[in-house]
Amino acid sequence: MNEQTWHAVDEWFCERLIGYDPALDDALAASAKAGLRAINVAPNQGKFLYLLARIQGARRVLEIGTLGGYSAIWLARALPADGTLVTLEAMTANAAVARANLAAAGVSDKVTVVEGLALDSLDRMVEEGVAPFDFIFIDADKSNNPHYLERVLKLSRPGTVIVADNVVRDGRVADEAHRDDDVVGVRRYIDMLAHDARLESSAVQTVGAKGWDGFAITVVKA
Ligand SMILES: C[S@@+](CC[C@H](N)C(=O)[O-])C[C@H]1O[C@@H](n2cnc3c(N)ncnc32)[C@H](O)[C@@H]1O
Repeated sequence: MNEQTWHAVDEWFCERLIGYDPALDDALAASAKAGLRAINVAPNQGKFLYLLARIQGARRVLEIGTLGGYSAIWLARALPADGTLVTLEAMTANAAVARANLAAAGVSDKVTVVEGLALDSLDRMVEEGVAPFDFIFIDADKSNNPHYLERVLKLSRPGTVIVADNVVRDGRVADEAHRDDDVVGVRRYIDMLAHDARLESSAVQTVGAKGWDGFAITVVKA
């Protein structure tokens, strides 16, 4: 069993369960053309997020980390006609690519791309008292995950679902000897989930086209 096999199985699933999707495939092509790194979720992971948001009946979705808008298109598609997605991105160039991709995918009317450091944008939303979000996807700089969790809990309600991507870090998350900022951020995030009585959480390792990785999922109890 190796990465080549994980890739082949992902392709096999994606061919059957997703297929050719011009808006999504063009978004990836446009992102690559603009020089964005291919650190978007894989197609089957994007659809998995879409399904989670659908299952939850999300009307208000928050994403931290837009890149070229690939996962944002999936999440926007999960929304009802009057649903909204707010997605936060630090890099102006990425936000511009995302806006173009979201427009081409026909979901711009539901999506606001907020430029700037996510912590600043989150603090502003807390200050403004925006309505709580139903579904939150955390996928930016992992070193800030503990701070993101602290903020998004102020933007949540009982029943809000929070998904954090890339929590495995090539296994380093479970090895205390590894002290780099992203690993420490993810480790602290998981510890916060474990010790907060308002939250119920699990984390799952995955393999696939994006290698060995995983996500954490949480529901806010009260
Ligand atoms: C992994 S990519 C997001 C991928 C995207 N969710 C997808 O699957 O299509 C992470 C993004 O977070 C952005 N980012 C990193 N640090 C940030 C910060 N402090 N505030 C806002 N965005 C940040 C990066 O510029 C990058 O575009």
